[in-house]
Amino acid sequence: MGARRVDEAALAAFGAGFARDLRPPAVVAIAGELGAGKTTLVRAIARGLGVTQSVTSPTFALVHRYDGEGVTVYHVDGYRLRSPAEAADLGLDEMAAERNAVVLVEWPERLGEWMPTPTHTIHLAYTDEPDFRTLELA
Ligand SMILES: Nc1ncnc2c1ncn2[C@@H]1O[C@H](COP(=O)(O)OP(=O)(O)O)[C@@H](O)[C@H]1O
Ligand SMILES: [Mg+2]
Repeated sequence: MGARRVDEAALAAFGAGFARDLRPPAVVAIAGELGAGKTTLVRAIARGLGVTQSVTSPTFALVHRYDGEGVTVYHVDGYRLRSPAEAADLGLDEMAAERNAVVLVEWPERLGEWMPTPTHTIHLAYTDEPDFRTLELA
């Protein structure tokens, strides 16, 4: 798929459809600048996986865990890592190895060698219009 241009509603619809097709175990790397829409997409995917709890950005813990429908959803955010070594103790490989886990990772590049091999990679980027982003699934 090439890059598509999405407003926030289209991004959410993409996330819902993506979740529907996702089969755990999966590791989804979601890359893009601050404000590109990574957390917005995580929220939509988590909803699509049956998570009813409110999904907030991991800060101190760096990882949030949610129960979906027959799936455990991990939301990892590397934004606050000062170095990849700080991700060493998060147990990311164990999460990724769980049979029923979907691991959604913001700022995957900040995890360095601790980033599990992604099954999917999504890039979000700004466009020249404030309410639109480009979305690319690799
Ligand atoms: N097309 C769009 N897709 C996603 N977010 C958008 C879009 N247009 C505007 N926004 C806004 O951009 C912000 C994205 O924030 P967020 O999802 O937290 O980004 P990130 O996690 O990448 O830092 C939100 O305030 C959202 O309302
Ligand atoms: Mg975010």
